[in-house]
Amino acid sequence: MSQNQIRKPPMGWLSWNMYAENIHEDLIRAMADAMVESGMKDCGYEYIIIDDCWSVREGRDEQGHLVPDPKKFPSGMKALADYVHSKGLKLGIYSDACRVTCAGWPGSYGYEEVDARTFAEWGIDFLKQDYWLDVPEGETAQGLYTRMGEALRNCGREIVYAVCEWGSNEPWKWAHSTGAAMWRTTWDIRDTWDSGIYDVQHNGFVNAVDVNAPLADFAGNGGYNDMDMICAGLYGKGSPANGGGACGCTDTEYQSQMTLWCIMNSPLLTCCDLANMNEATKRILMNCEVLAVNQDGCTVQGRRMYAENGFEVFVKPLENGDYAAAVLNRNAEAGRFHLDLTQFGLPAAAEVRDLWAHEAVEHNRYGLDLQVESHETRLLRIRPQEKPCCVHGD
Ligand code: GLA
Repeated sequence: MSQNQIRKPPMGWLSWNMYAENIHEDLIRAMADAMVESGMKDCGYEYIIIDDCWSVREGRDEQGHLVPDPKKFPSGMKALADYVHSKGLKLGIYSDACRVTCAGWPGSYGYEEVDARTFAEWGIDFLKQDYWLDVPEGETAQGLYTRMGEALRNCGREIVYAVCEWGSNEPWKWAHSTGAAMWRTTWDIRDTWDSGIYDVQHNGFVNAVDVNAPLADFAGNGGYNDMDMICAGLYGKGSPANGGGACGCTDTEYQSQMTLWCIMNSPLLTCCDLANMNEATKRILMNCEVLAVNQDGCTVQGRRMYAENGFEVFVKPLENGDYAAAVLNRNAEAGRFHLDLTQFGLPAAAEVRDLWAHEAVEHNRYGLDLQVESHETRLLRIRPQEKPCCVHGD
């Protein structure tokens, strides 16, 4: 792939965190409609992805094909893909590298080629491949994902491949070579700021940040560390997202999640009810200046450069020579943070813009003082001033 063909972190909507097994083709169509009507499509959101529980639970048909549950998808997947495509969007689906999915539906183990061909025939554009823990003896995560990667390469359709192994087998080291465009680095994200502990049930926003931040070297060039779904708009209403006692966040916290996922180049898969978003959720999901940091042509993951006294600084270089810098306040109280630009390798002679406020920020050669609310993340774009062109006669 040449530099300008490199895929950016995928953006879209995923059914799991809000709807779990309560999915239906009418819901999927409604989400596609809302992605267009809300303006999300114009901001770059593209994939509508059906998560677990879409097929007949009891098993495959006589030829070994997965069958869409006729109660949930009476018109079938091909018709649904046609509808989503007619909106200028793409349709994603879910399967599992093992025999069953995490919710207990049939997985793709032993049927990788059949499933990849079936998905291609339906017009599917994206596959989230999960990893339930019944790994057959003698198999490895890398082996299983390689097999599905090969099947997708040979299925006759371009299907974006998303590995969802949760990080236990360090997929950041091998998933890109299986053909994956993204790989989950963390357990399932929960609708909470900080779950205190980090395990299969507990994973708040800052807990995911702590796992993902040290993995910056493994992302870029069309393969991304996936920190799981963007939770803005959930407000404690999604049952899977409420696992481990999570019960919702404030808009400041949702905005922080968006900022951190953007600067760390995570895919941006939203999960709330797109047809009923309030103004705050729309503002968080559709800030084009913020999204441009995530979708920038320089696809390196922003690095955590500083973490002291509850304040953290992340820096990401951008394609045109600008930098994005994020300042996170993890403390329970608001505070002021002095961002010394040169300390983080940033140019002091620069224009600084606040990407959430859409305004220029005053600073001097020592840097700038930022007010950062509790759990807020400020996001700045720093543009080096061009050196004056010297024309001293000749
Ligand atoms: C796992 C995945 C989730 C979701 C569920 C579905 O937990 O990590 O994102 O796909 O399975 O059962």
